[in-house]
Order: sequence, then C-alpha cells, then structure tokens
Amino acid sequence: MAILDLFDDSEEATARRRGWVGAVQRGFRADRPEDELVDRWVTHYRAERATVRGAWLPAGEFGAGPMPVATYASFDKTLNAGREVLPLRMVTDVTTSASHRRRGLLRQLIEADLADAVTSGVPVAALTASEATIYGRWGFGPATFRHGVEVDTSAGFGFRSFTDPGRVELVEPVDAWPHVRAVFDAFHARQRGSVEWPAPYEDIHTGAYDFDGGGANRKIRAAVHLGAAGAVDGFVIFKHGEKNTVAVTEMIALSPEAQLGLWSFLGNMDRVTTVTHKLSHPRDPLQWALTDLNRVRSTEIEEFLWLRVLDVPRALAARPWSGNGTVVLEVDDAQGHAAGRFEVTASAGGAEVVRTERAPEVRLTAETLGALYLGGVPVAQLHRAGRLDGEEDAVRRFAEMADLAEPPYCLTGF
Ligand SMILES: CC(C)(COP(=O)(O)OP(=O)(O)OC[C@H]1O[C@@H](n2cnc3c(N)ncnc32)[C@H](O)[C@@H]1OP(=O)(O)O)[C@@H](O)C(=O)NCCC(=O)NCCS
Repeated sequence: MAILDLFDDSEEATARRRGWVGAVQRGFRADRPEDELVDRWVTHYRAERATVRGAWLPAGEFGAGPMPVATYASFDKTLNAGREVLPLRMVTDVTTSASHRRRGLLRQLIEADLADAVTSGVPVAALTASEATIYGRWGFGPATFRHGVEVDTSAGFGFRSFTDPGRVELVEPVDAWPHVRAVFDAFHARQRGSVEWPAPYEDIHTGAYDFDGGGANRKIRAAVHLGAAGAVDGFVIFKHGEKNTVAVTEMIALSPEAQLGLWSFLGNMDRVTTVTHKLSHPRDPLQWALTDLNRVRSTEIEEFLWLRVLDVPRALAARPWSGNGTVVLEVDDAQGHAAGRFEVTASAGGAEVVRTERAPEVRLTAETLGALYLGGVPVAQLHRAGRLDGEEDAVRRFAEMADLAEPPYCLTGF
C-alpha cells in the first residue's frame, strides 16, 4: 500500500502515475489512457491536493511494475448540509484488479482513508457508487437520488400560463463557463445536498476534454438564462443525439422562472421531439406547468450521492431539523468513527448534539445514518424497512424532528 507523490517528477514516479491512471481505466473497463488524459489527471489532482493511494506488487514478483493492482483517491471539498457547508472527504477512482479482487485491498485503502479523514477533522465522507452493494459495510448510505426524465417535446408541447419574463441565449461553452461556474456556486451555497464541483468539471463543461472519448468534446452546447433584469440566473448544457433527441448533461436554475424558461427553450427547439435529463430536480416544476403533464415521463430513480458520517455531533448540528424535541440515538459503526450514544435536542430549526450515557431510544447503523442525514428518506420508511429500531413513540418523535419537507439534491458525480 503506498501513496503517490504527485509532485515528484522523477522517471519512476512519472511511470507510476501513468500506471495508476492505466489501472483506473482498466478497472472501469475503459480504453488505455492517452498521454493527454494522464496529463489532465495529474493537473487536476495536483490542484485538488488529492491523496492518491494504490497497492503495487512487490518488485520481483511476477506481474510487478508501475501499474498497481488497486487504486483509490480522495480529496477534500465541501457539502451543503443545509445549515452549514461542511468539509467533505470525496472518494473516487476505486478499483481492484480482476486478478486481485476479494482479498481485502479495497478494505485496507478505504479504512486508511476514513481514519485519515477523522484525524484531519473532516466530519463527512462521500462517493458515488457503481454498485449499491459495496459501501454500506463502511458506513456509507445513499443520501440523494437521481431522477431521470424524458420529455416529449413533439407538436403540442406547451405551457398552461408560463411566459418567460427573461430570455435564453446560446453561448459557446467556453464563453458560458464563467456564468456556469457562478450559477453553480450560488446553487451550491443554497442547496442542501450539493457537493462542490471537482477540478475536471471545467474541462467537461467547456468541452476542453472528453474523459470518455478523449480529445475535445465538440458535441456539447450551452445556453444561459437571463432574468428580466438581464442577470444570468440559469444555464443548460446539452448535446443533440440520434432521432431528434437532446440530452441534457447539466441544468441549474436559480429561480422557477429560469427553470421553466430553460425547459421552454429546450422544448421549443425545431425538429427536437424528445429531451432527456438524468439529474432533474425531484421537485422540478415542469410537469405541473405544462398543459399535458404526461409529456414528462419518469425514466429512473437511482441512488446517487453516498454519505458517511464521521463526526456525529458536528454533522448533525450542520443539518436542519424540522421539529422541536429530544431523542437519544445509538449508532452502531463497524469502523467505530460514528459509534456511540448521542442526545439530539432540536429547536428553532437547528440541533445541539452531545455524547451521552443515557439509554438509547432509537438505534441505527452508520449506513442508515448516512442515508437519512440529508433528509432524502423519511425516518418512518427506514423504520418499516427494519433499518432503525426503537419504540413507536420514540421513532415518531425522531421523525418529527428529522424529516425535512424539501428533498436534498446533488448534481455532482465524481
Ligand atoms: C469494487 C471493488 C473495488 C472491490 O474491491 P476488492 O479489493 O475486491 O474489495 P475487498 O476485497 O476489500 O472487499 C471487502 C468487502 O467488500 C465486499 N465487496 C467488494 N466488492 C463488492 C461488490 N461489488 N459487491 C458486494 N460486495 C463487495 C467483499 O465481499 C468484502 O466483504 P467482507 O469483508 O464482508 O468479506 C472491485 O470489485 C472493483 O474494482 N470493481 C470494478 C470497479 C468498480 O466498480 N469500482 C467501484 C467504483 S464506485
């Protein structure tokens, strides 16, 4: 197990970095990396001050070389927890070679990183997962969900009463970027569940580099929404596909008018009959604004952001609470970081959270705590599923305190 030095430019370190990126590509069944991918990866991870871990076979062993048999990277950015924007350990590039799987390599890498996050005072860790069966054992729970929609924009698509008080302009993605970034930053500051964009987002949204295909991404288009006063308050990045379709890759609006204005722009493009969006807001107003609500079809709901609470008092005090009351929680955590009993006293939308010796009223695992942390799932539903225990009245009290009216929303994949 070793940590790469991203700033060592010796031949050996450079070869190891290249080998590491090659192993990530192999783990995700992608092509061998071209030089530009490796260069961009190094630039981004240097900018993030990322910790890049891996497991290499010992020198002399058959198969040993610069390419590791397991990869794992993490860096710290921020999560909007609802009342506070918290430091967040972001985990990515998790792969184990098919010839070394199920020997505990991921376990060693992730447990070392979570322990490091605790030492560094980072209260929450996050990842987006390729399979929902992997990370619960390390206390990660699915905290936000991805809502996919397909909108029929063929003849007849129209709004009941909406008229855009502003307007939409198509702009080259590279020129749109400062506006895109500013809208995202405003969104991140106000949206519970939002995770700060990692460094590659600029390459992705300007089309400077296509991490899937290599080279520049010449397909993406960008449009910004300007409110009545002329300020940019939303954007959409999209690409045209087969059979008169448009796929939205990113859309953020800072007001309902901007949201509907962008949908109106997308829905009224000539010769476009279907618009898809895999990360639409769970409460997007579009469906209720159209003359025909069946024009919006839900295509998928999947877990998206996985969260792992590391510092229970700090994390729980940073989220909103809806009702007043006190409950004693007992958290069971295989790694120990969130383990213990905590008295949560909620009032005026916030909570005071302290360790206690009092008898527990509600018992749950770290994984379940991660799932309910942002309010993405009601307490009663978790209780009915057998994911948390307690007397009916204690669970009801906890639900009244912890359930939140508005769902969390995260757009950041990493
Ligand atoms: C997921 C992956 C990294 C696991 O690596 P690994 O080194 O084999 O994992 P470990 O040996 O440390 O496994 C630790 C535990 O997780 C379990 N586990 C690992 N991968 C799992 C999976 N895909 N589904 C369910 N359980 C899994 C193991 O069974 C083991 O359980 P146990 O401790 O109860 O016995 C590896 O399978 C992989 O590279 N997959 C392809 C790329 C990928 O999907 N990466 C994840 C990106 S989010």
